[in-house]
Amino acid sequence: MKLIHDSAPFILHLLLLAELFVRTSSRPTHSSSICGFLGSMIPQVDRIMMLSKNLHGLSDDELLNLAAVDNRLDDLPHIQQTAAHFTSRKVNESLSQLHVYTQSFKLHIDWLITAQFNFSLPTQPAEGASAHLLQLSTLIHTSLHQMHETSTQAPPPSLPVAASTFDVLQFSVEISERLHVFCNWSRRLLRHLQKLSRCPRR
Ligand SMILES: *[C@@H]1O[C@H](CO)[C@@H](O)[C@H](O)[C@H]1NC(C)=O
Ligand SMILES: *[C@@H]1O[C@H](CO)[C@@H](O)[C@H](O)[C@H]1NC(C)=O
Ligand SMILES: *[C@@H]1O[C@H](CO)[C@@H](O)[C@H](O)[C@H]1NC(C)=O
Repeated sequence: MKLIHDSAPFILHLLLLAELFVRTSSRPTHSSSICGFLGSMIPQVDRIMMLSKNLHGLSDDELLNLAAVDNRLDDLPHIQQTAAHFTSRKVNESLSQLHVYTQSFKLHIDWLITAQFNFSLPTQPAEGASAHLLQLSTLIHTSLHQMHETSTQAPPPSLPVAASTFDVLQFSVEISERLHVFCNWSRRLLRHLQKLSRCPRR
């Protein structure tokens, strides 16, 4: 009697282990690999978020003077901030969308680097952002490839002429703000996709 009583927790433990084993092994095999990809994308987004704030190199006071900047870059992605927007989506569709946005931002940033260079403005933050956007894009492309999906290419954006230093600063501010919103949205999307794919919490 005593023996059975003592072994009860042990048996319970075994049952839990078996249950865990069944659950892990019945998971679709791609699930752990998509989790790896999603986990690597988040730090890239965080780096881009940090760099987005420094694209223009302006202080808060200087920014205030540029606050009423018109939106002139028509092809910069418009992000729908509402959560409902991505709860209805599948992982493949969300990643395709993220890929198109990432590419579009990279094309805009690369254009900005040239414009900044032309007017002898610092290009390092934009170059950093471009490098991390490329890494993010590659990670998304590879994970889509593993899901046997082809990634959609962003169409080449139409870009205005940057005619003065002031112009370039305005464009930097516009891209900086939009990139920030994009990073915010991407981070939430990636966390959502982690839940959808039942990725272990870290
Ligand atoms: C995503 O995958 C589903 C099947 O899981 C498929 O029906 C759908 O067409 C795919 N979407 C895209 C954009 O490839
Ligand atoms: C930078 O200058 C080059 C040479 O003048 C010009 O072709 C290019 O369009 C300029 N880039 C931007 C983004 O203004
Ligand atoms: C980022 O998202 C949070 C909520 O998730 C929101 O409060 C904040 O205003 C957002 N920031 C930007 C710049 O979109």
